[in-house]
Amino acid sequence: MQFPPGFQWGTATASYQIEGAIREGGRGVSIWDTFAHQPRRVIDGSTGDVACDHYHRYKDDVALMAELGMQTYRFSVAWSRIFPMGRGGVNPEGLAFYERLIEELLAKGIQPALTLYHWDLPQALQDIGGWANRETATAFAEYAAYLFEKLGDRVTRWITLNEPLIFTMYGHRLGVMAPGQKDLGITARAVHHAMLGHGLAVRAFRANGRGGEIGITNANSSFEPADGSPECARAVEFARDFETRLFHDPVFGRGYPASVLKFYAERGAHFPIEPGDMETIAAPTDFLGVNLYSRQLVQPGGPTGFTSAAPTLPLLPMGYEAAPHSLGDFVRWVSKEYGNPVIYITENGVCDNTEPGPDGAIDDTTRMVLTRGFLEGLHGAIADGADVRAYYMWSLMDNFEWAFGFTKRFGIVHTDFETLKRTPKASARMYAAIARANSLDV
Ligand code: NOJ
Repeated sequence: MQFPPGFQWGTATASYQIEGAIREGGRGVSIWDTFAHQPRRVIDGSTGDVACDHYHRYKDDVALMAELGMQTYRFSVAWSRIFPMGRGGVNPEGLAFYERLIEELLAKGIQPALTLYHWDLPQALQDIGGWANRETATAFAEYAAYLFEKLGDRVTRWITLNEPLIFTMYGHRLGVMAPGQKDLGITARAVHHAMLGHGLAVRAFRANGRGGEIGITNANSSFEPADGSPECARAVEFARDFETRLFHDPVFGRGYPASVLKFYAERGAHFPIEPGDMETIAAPTDFLGVNLYSRQLVQPGGPTGFTSAAPTLPLLPMGYEAAPHSLGDFVRWVSKEYGNPVIYITENGVCDNTEPGPDGAIDDTTRMVLTRGFLEGLHGAIADGADVRAYYMWSLMDNFEWAFGFTKRFGIVHTDFETLKRTPKASARMYAAIARANSLDV
């Protein structure tokens, strides 16, 4: 169960979920500040105002990563710390925070992997329409170019967007995440402009000429048919079109899936594609970021041609199935579908709300068992030829889980949200041992 030489192990986080200090260091307001402060948006009424207070505790957090033997760390930059209004005037104090963090990581031999957009759009850009406005795509590319210039000497791994499926659909169609809209036309525009922003950022990265690698991180499920019928097999393909291919195909030069464009067009919603856009979005990338947490059983039905079928495996607190085989399955599928790209597992992990026992120890057995299962599957996919080079556990520590607030714990380190004390869980020790050995035989 040895992983290939040079395989990297790390953890992942995101700015709004851990930083707090929302009014410090010249940071501008983001759409998640606005959203979380509205009544009934977050189930426990919490916000990211303080979160894990990582803004003040980043040194301790990096030290913790080093203790766990982590080799790389994926984090995101809060756009509104750099450009408080989304564009125009830059805030040097915001940049300085990330420079301090990066220096700390490098001093401990941990490679930074920087996500440019993990959902905290500057509110000033939402005020002009957010991702539904084409100007947000250009503002994103300008912000990205600024960071390439300022940090590109120390950061060599860049991720443009985190999970465009989730922030476009949950934020613009279902309204359960920021900015809380429910409009199919806005959704189509947001999807296209987000993908355009990705492509423009990749182009700006190449123009900067410093080298390093850039890619996109998509949200994924491993889709499985509810039964062996040809109808279910077709439903699986529809699910892949709407949730997977919509965000992968254009990056790999195939445009948006026809089935999805048709669905939107029939409802009067249009992708505002201008000449040259699809070429921009297809600007070659260096790796594919894969986030995956579970599988989804699908069956025919509904206007999209697929619906979810009843789960058959035990459910985790997030509501999805404990399906550790899904990681290897998806990696095999995506490697084949897109010509064996270099893959980083930019997120995988387990929601396990285990709290400290009487002795203070946190025995998060579910997380441990499932993590091993996920990694066994991944190991198998690599043995079959998938080019996977790094794995980032979501997450370093329990944090603000968006609309679920602090009610869902994904950390291998426990966060006490009263005292903000961090305590490594049993899973952290197991993961550290795996990372050190580069093997599951520990
Ligand atoms: C995906 C998202 O990128 C991250 O922000 C979230 O916390 C995890 N999945 C867990 O749901």
